[in-house]
Amino acid sequence: MKVLSFGSLNIDYVYSVPHFIMRGETLAAKSLNVYSGGKGLNQSVALSKAGLDVFHAGAVGQEGMFLLDELKSSGVDTKHVRILPDTKSGHTIIQKNVDGDNCILLYGGANRSITEKQIDDTLADFSAGDALVIQNEINGLEYLASRAKERGMIVAFNPSPMENGIIPVFKYADYLLLNEVEAGQFLGKDISAETPESISSQLQAKLPGAKIILTLGLNGSVYSDGKISFRQEAVKVHAVDTTAAGDTFTGFFLAGIFGGKSPEWSMRFAAHASAIAVTRPGAAPSVPAREEVLAAL
Ligand code: RIB
Repeated sequence: MKVLSFGSLNIDYVYSVPHFIMRGETLAAKSLNVYSGGKGLNQSVALSKAGLDVFHAGAVGQEGMFLLDELKSSGVDTKHVRILPDTKSGHTIIQKNVDGDNCILLYGGANRSITEKQIDDTLADFSAGDALVIQNEINGLEYLASRAKERGMIVAFNPSPMENGIIPVFKYADYLLLNEVEAGQFLGKDISAETPESISSQLQAKLPGAKIILTLGLNGSVYSDGKISFRQEAVKVHAVDTTAAGDTFTGFFLAGIFGGKSPEWSMRFAAHASAIAVTRPGAAPSVPAREEVLAAL
């Protein structure tokens, strides 16, 4: 099985701050680090490090060439990434506070220049039984997901960052990986007083064919597929940087499933992988190797 991860490539500018900046405030950052990131790139790295055969598709500007090196050094094929001479690479400004939490300002840049021709040319290399992994940091998602389904590909969708414009993409998902905020927006209601199990079953009712993975941060995650539903506890660690924890979870969960493991095993694999990721700084550089995660299991 081949995995096509069609998604963003970002340069992450990570500023360590004593607190998140407030309206009208000028705040001195303690340090600046530049990392390779983007939900697409991070998930490609995680999928590959977890053991899958991964091809990344997307677009970068000239200053983002080092992002391709990060992918290649993680074993990801980059032949479907377009290099755009006159467009800035996607980038983020990330504030990281003393607890390792973050807030992210995203500039889409080249990630928003995906054409239907690039999608068609890329999908031509994939066939029934291969998988497509997508998030919401590129344009063209509905066209991409619908064409992939027509080819018989398995679609895994992480609707992050969530916005109402991508609701039509949900129906293509065989695997839907999302957090409670994203779930509430998709369900179109306030779910803050509801249990994760109730939220999962409402998602399942709207998307009966999908396997749903609801992530809950420190409270773990819930898997449901219409036949079984269970909770996976989070692995407790001291977090220094939570950036890419969700991307690591997504990559390792899918690697477990696509590698023939059970949902229970795959959820544990993912929980241990993301727990290791949060103990390290940066986005893609924080993703652990498969062997490390197996040792932690
Ligand atoms: O999920 C983490 C990622 O979100 C960061 O690497 C940043 O680029 C943003 O896309």
